Amino acid sequence: MIIDAIIVAAGRGERAGGGIPKQFRSLAGRSVLARTLDALAGHAAIRRAVVVVNPQDTDHVEAVRQETARSFTTVPGGATRTDSVRAGLAALAGDAPDAVMIHDAARPFLSAELIDRLAEALDRHDAVIPALPATDALMRVMTDGMIAEPVDRAVVRAAQTPQAFRFDALSAAYARLGGGGLADDAAVILAAGGQVHTVEGETDNFKLTLPADFRRAEAMLMGETITVSGQGFDVHRLEPAETMWLCGVELHEGLGLVGHSDADAGLHAVTDAVLGCAGAGDIGQHFPPSDPKWKGAASDSFLLHALELLREAGGQVIHADVTLIAERPKIGPYREAMRTRLAQLLRLDPKRVNIKATTTEKLGFTGRGEGLAAQAIVTARLS
Ligand code: CTP
Ligand code: MG
Repeated sequence: MIIDAIIVAAGRGERAGGGIPKQFRSLAGRSVLARTLDALAGHAAIRRAVVVVNPQDTDHVEAVRQETARSFTTVPGGATRTDSVRAGLAALAGDAPDAVMIHDAARPFLSAELIDRLAEALDRHDAVIPALPATDALMRVMTDGMIAEPVDRAVVRAAQTPQAFRFDALSAAYARLGGGGLADDAAVILAAGGQVHTVEGETDNFKLTLPADFRRAEAMLMGETITVSGQGFDVHRLEPAETMWLCGVELHEGLGLVGHSDADAGLHAVTDAVLGCAGAGDIGQHFPPSDPKWKGAASDSFLLHALELLREAGGQVIHADVTLIAERPKIGPYREAMRTRLAQLLRLDPKRVNIKATTTEKLGFTGRGEGLAAQAIVTARLS
């Protein structure tokens, strides 16, 4: 059976707060959506994935593409979840699958076993969703919050996603639906007079909805990771020149750094620190100065390669602290630009990047202005 996935990610996440829509927020160093894609689109039962997004979020979506090896197409969503699912179904209709799993981007913790259970149930049913029994006692309340009566716990379930459907059955139910949004896709089937079956849901497959859900998710992930540090050190000779590259920023102070590449000692120190976190040796092993390929190379590419090695090792940078040691040039005027650029390269909030500068009181090679030294400490999480 061919099964496609629709991940709805066009919501604004207003209840969760946090400045950006919750599906693009980072959890222990990786975005919610990248985690959701890996779990669902990475499952062998799924042929292809369509992610329904708000066109305002293009930059966030591009950042997610860099974070995951999963390929996916995007389609613009609508004002309600129902409209967004409808857009996803339309995008699949040209090369329709036998079945579709519709999933909230905001549920990154679904397991492969849950997808297996749903795929297996599709052999027997047109519509099947994961559901969990209630554990608390349940009450029906009036609008003022006063309890009207207890509700029998045995007759209710909490509905989760992915919700799995025969494609034709769900498309037909959506076609019959008028305007207005329903809570989920099971409700669309029921509104069309269809039947929906359940399989056992998962407590970890909760929907990130409120700020406290993010704290719960971080705590879950932290339990599985260790924190490591890597340090880096680099020196390049200073000479009169029009420009200098330092921490990925171009300085115009009449001084330049001399080296085989662009000689950006700041980025080289950070690159070595990242390699340290990955347990991947040093910059000279990966980019030998003897190789003509690296002559004049922008050091950004060294850092990006080191970050890729760290990612392959299951790691993610969470903090960087850089110390630049030189009498000249003065770093102050460039400090914020360096911080911004480094944060961009490391994909960190600028608050998690620090640039310090010091002199050596006219002592030694830095004191005499012969060279500039850079030190970096990078902290990463490894899973
Ligand atoms: N969703 C969507 N299009 C909408 C509304 C919601 O694709 N117009 C998606 C959300 O991105 C989310 C899922 O549907 O993955 C579940 O919705 P919900 O948890 O309500 O997310 P938001 O609507 O983003 O959050 P809030 O209601 O707090 O604003
Ligand atoms: Mg909503």
